Amino acid sequence: MKNKRNVVLFIASSLDGYIATKDESLEWLFSVEGEGDNGFSEFYDTVDTVIMGKRTYDWIMNQDLKEFPYVNKDCYVFTRSVVEDTENVKFVRGDLPKLINELKNQEGKNIWLVGGGELLQTFLEEKLVDELIVTVAPAVLGKGIPLFREGDYQLNLSMKSVRTFNQFVEIQYEVKK
Ligand SMILES: NC(=O)c1ccc[n+]([C@@H]2O[C@H](COP(=O)([O-])OP(=O)(O)OC[C@H]3O[C@@H](n4cnc5c(N)ncnc54)[C@H](OP(=O)(O)O)[C@@H]3O)[C@@H](O)[C@H]2O)c1
Repeated sequence: MKNKRNVVLFIASSLDGYIATKDESLEWLFSVEGEGDNGFSEFYDTVDTVIMGKRTYDWIMNQDLKEFPYVNKDCYVFTRSVVEDTENVKFVRGDLPKLINELKNQEGKNIWLVGGGELLQTFLEEKLVDELIVTVAPAVLGKGIPLFREGDYQLNLSMKSVRTFNQFVEIQYEVKK
């Protein structure tokens, strides 16, 4: 039987578990001194599909980038509204577990779950996440948008690796099934 491809959460968090301030600033993250691209391109090569929530997508589109950052990958954005697809993005609604399980059963590389916390909550409740790679920034925010929202889930993890990129600590976990 062929191996299913994994859904991997690859995300940066403050030490106290926030992925952005309440006003969606990532200044606390971008001001940290890392090393190289902090493992990003190495990870990026392992995926061919990118998934995110609509607020994360809107944040990216507000960044004044020259082009969409994930042009060479299949990109799905979850929303509960009707949004027209673009040349780079499919907007998806409806049966989230069905779509993700279909993707997992297709041939291909891994699937990057970009975030944010709201979409992650559904993925966790539906037991769709296989691996978590969290890069912890040396910052405590006190409040903000949480990585892990309160929800009906509990994960038992197996720690696979820890690496540092100067001030960042990257921890890789596999979800025990
Ligand atoms: N630190 C990092 O590495 C990192 C990574 C990713 C994101 N972020 C930050 O996180 C913030 C956004 O995170 P967030 O938790 O507020 O929002 P999010 O999860 O990115 O997006 C939430 C939106 O996604 C849609 N959605 C969520 N769950 C859904 C479901 N089960 N089915 C269908 N649609 C669903 C809804 O869109 P509609 O409202 O359109 O229905 C919802 O409003 C941004 O500021 C972003 O910059 C940081």
